[in-house]
Amino acid sequence: MPTQSSPKPSNSLAWKKLEQQAEALKSSHLSHLFANQPDRFKALSLSFSPLLMDFSKQFLTTDVIDSLVSLAHEKQLPAWIERLFAGELVNDTEQRAARHWALRLPAGSEHANSDLVHQVQAQREKMRGLVEQLRDGEWKGYSGKAITDVVNIGVGGSDLGPLMACEALDDAAVCANAQAGQGDTAPRVHFASSMEGSQIARLLQALTPETTLFVIASKSFTTQDTMANVETVLEWFGSQQVDEALVKSRHFIGVSTRPDLMQAWDIAPEHQLEFWEWVGGRFSPWSTIGFSLAVKIGYEAFESLLAGAHAMDEHFRTASLAENLPVMNALLGVWNTNFLDINTHAVLPYGGRLKHLPGYLQQLEMESNGKSARRDGEPVSYRTCPIIWGEVGPNGQHAFYQLLHQGTERVSSDFVLVANRYREAHYAPIAGSLQHQHRLGLANGLAQSQLLALGEHALPDTTGLPAHKRYQGNQPSTTLILDELTPYSLGMLLAMYEHKVFVQSVIWEINPFDQWGVELGKKLAGQTQGLLQQGAQADLSGLDASTAGLLMHVADAVAP
Ligand code: F6P
Repeated sequence: MPTQSSPKPSNSLAWKKLEQQAEALKSSHLSHLFANQPDRFKALSLSFSPLLMDFSKQFLTTDVIDSLVSLAHEKQLPAWIERLFAGELVNDTEQRAARHWALRLPAGSEHANSDLVHQVQAQREKMRGLVEQLRDGEWKGYSGKAITDVVNIGVGGSDLGPLMACEALDDAAVCANAQAGQGDTAPRVHFASSMEGSQIARLLQALTPETTLFVIASKSFTTQDTMANVETVLEWFGSQQVDEALVKSRHFIGVSTRPDLMQAWDIAPEHQLEFWEWVGGRFSPWSTIGFSLAVKIGYEAFESLLAGAHAMDEHFRTASLAENLPVMNALLGVWNTNFLDINTHAVLPYGGRLKHLPGYLQQLEMESNGKSARRDGEPVSYRTCPIIWGEVGPNGQHAFYQLLHQGTERVSSDFVLVANRYREAHYAPIAGSLQHQHRLGLANGLAQSQLLALGEHALPDTTGLPAHKRYQGNQPSTTLILDELTPYSLGMLLAMYEHKVFVQSVIWEINPFDQWGVELGKKLAGQTQGLLQQGAQADLSGLDASTAGLLMHVADAVAP
C-alpha cells in the first residue's frame, strides 16, 4: 500500500531529473526531435484497439518518458491503482471509495464484492425496464397518450456526460431505432441544466405536457439549479389543470443516491433509479444518470458503452505503466504542466458529434484536479490541473488557432479524430459527399497538428519569409484516433480520460474525488438571493462595495 506521502519535488530524484531534461531540451525544437528519431511515431504511440494514441508530437524524448515512468513509480502509482479498484477510501476528505469502474463490470462478473455487483446489476435491470417501456411507446402520460419527449433535468455531472454522449452517439440512436423498427416512436431526448431557466423556458414552449416525461437527475436531489427547473415544470403542468399526484406519477422519473428524498417528492418507487455515494457526479454517466442516454440510443447500445469503458478499466489495471494509455496521457500532461510550464490545454475534436467533449472534460479534469491542498494537508508547491478548454477543431481553426500558431502562449492540445464516418445505411443517398467532407476534416486535423508541432519547418522552403508570415511551431499535441465513433469506442475514450485524471492526482498528491471549492459559492448565493428578494429594503452593510453596488443597481432596475 502507498504511504500517505511520497517525496516532495525538492526531494524527488525523478522530479529533479525531469527538471534537468526540460532545461536541456529548451533550445531544441520538435522538428529536430523528429529529424533525430526516424522511428518516433513507433516509439511514441500506443494502441489499444479501437483507440490509437500518438504522442510523438509532444515535446519530449524517450528518456523523458523513462523519467516520467520513474516518477509514477516513486509516487507509488501501481499501489494507488490497486487501492482504487479494491474500493478503498481514496476520497479521503469524504471518507468514500470511488467505484465508478464497478458500474461497468459486465453482468455476472466474478468479483470479490458480490454485493456490489448485485446492487449495480439490479439498478441496471430496473433502468432497462423503464427504457424499454419508453422506447416501445408503452409509457403513457396523464391523458393516455404515449410519451414522445424525455427531458433530463440535471446539472454538472448529472447533465454533461449524458448530454455529450447523446450528441456523440446520434448515429447509434438512428441505427438502434431502425433495427427495432422504432424510428417513429422512440422518444426525443432533451436537456435542461441552467438554473436561470432559459433552456427549460424554450423547451416548455415547444413541448406538449401530456406526452413529455421529465427525469430529475441529481445525485444529492437537492441541487438548487435542478430543483428550480423542476418547480417551473410543475407550474407548467399546473397550468393544464391536471392533478399534481397524477402528473408526478406519470411524468417524472427520479435518478439519485437519495431514495428518501425521491420518496418525499412523491416519485413512485418503481420510477426511482438509484446510484451510490461512491460514484462522483462527474464519474456518473455509467450509472442510472445515463438513463436519458439509454432512452436515446437504446439499452443494448448503452451496455456497449459500458463494455468499452470496462475494457479500458482492465487495460488501465493490468498494462505496464509505459504501455498504459491513461497513464501515459496523464504523464504527458504532468510533463507539460510541471516541467514545460504549459498551463493551458485544448481539447480539439475533429467532428461536430463531439462538440460537448471539451465541456465534459472541463468538469472531469478541472473539478477533479483543480486543487491546491495535498492529501497530507500541505499546500502544493507545484502546479496542478491546467486550464482545459476547446471547441470543434474545424471551427476553432477559424477562431482561436491564430493564437496557437503565432501568439505568445504555449498551449498543449489533444486532437480527437475518428477514422471512419458516414457508413451507416441512413447516409447512403449522400454518403459520397459526406465521406468526402469527413476526409476534409481529417486532413485538416492532421495538418493542424503537424503545423503546430513543426511550424514553418513543415514547409519546403521558408527563406525570406517576413515576420508576420512565420510560424514558430513547437506547440505539443497528442492525437487520439478512434476507428469509428461507436458506443464502445466512446466508452473507452471517456474511461481513458477518467483514469488520466486519477493518475495525475496521484502524481500531484491531491484528492480528485471531492469538490469543496464549489460549496461556498452555493452558500453565498443563498444569502445573496435573500438580499435580492428584499430589493431596496435589503441591509447591505458588511458587504463589499462591488456586490453592494451591483445589488443596489439591480434593485433600482427592477423597481416598478
Ligand atoms: O456543484 C458541483 C456539483 O456537486 C457537481 O460535482 C455535480 O456533478 C453537480 O454539482 C450536480 O450535483 P447533483 O447531481 O447532486 O445535482
